[in-house]
Amino acid sequence: MRRPMVAGNWKMHGTRASVAELINGLSHLALPSGVDVAVFPPFLHINQVIDGLKGKSISVGAQNSAVESMQGALTGEVAPSQLVDAGCTFVLVGHSERRQMGEQDGMLIRKFAAAQACGLIPVLCIGETLEQREAGKTLEVVGRQLGSIIEELGVGAFANAVIAYEPVWAIGTGLTASPQQAQDVHAAIRAQLAAENSEVAQGVRLLYGGSVKAANAVELFGMPDIDGGLIGGASLNADEFGAICRAAGN
Ligand code: PGA
Repeated sequence: MRRPMVAGNWKMHGTRASVAELINGLSHLALPSGVDVAVFPPFLHINQVIDGLKGKSISVGAQNSAVESMQGALTGEVAPSQLVDAGCTFVLVGHSERRQMGEQDGMLIRKFAAAQACGLIPVLCIGETLEQREAGKTLEVVGRQLGSIIEELGVGAFANAVIAYEPVWAIGTGLTASPQQAQDVHAAIRAQLAAENSEVAQGVRLLYGGSVKAANAVELFGMPDIDGGLIGGASLNADEFGAICRAAGN
């Protein structure tokens, strides 16, 4: 049985004051014990969040990390080893908002490997644009994004990673993939992994992301290959986020 996971991607939101408020809200949530819960604040607020959530069963991750594991001369970047030192567990790799800024598969392979090399768990984000979906290319695009990592690092890399399927057209738009649309892609992702190694395929958690809210989470998380969610906008409201976490525990 895969343990469900709900991850909150705060993106480029927050001030010291609003983050303190959010930490306070998260601290008071009644979270289901069977669900892994994580939040991904901006780099600037990671220390504040880790200190503020000490003793709570919420892990912390970063939204990005450098292509090199160890600290060094790379202006403006943050090394995975520095994130581990700060107390992070996870890191997003290849969020579509970063792919749109030019991050490509070659760089993402390096980021994924560098993160794993120092014990961070990568959350690989994959997904198609509206244009690609309408052209019937969803599985081809997602398959290529996943396949580039499998080819370079081997399917075993997913024994200790998470995958988030996030259709670009559903992110921040209020449009959600229907549970069946999401399930179809999740099943294809799992099948692609299973073609290489069925144990890895059965064990890896596949999160859905794209306008998940408390109101649609139960239905989405009820699908057999959806193991939780990567939540953007709705994760900035502690009560809403808590309700989504509970939906994953059903
Ligand atoms: P959203 O973002 O929930 O605001 O659509 C999801 C994400 O980008 O991870």
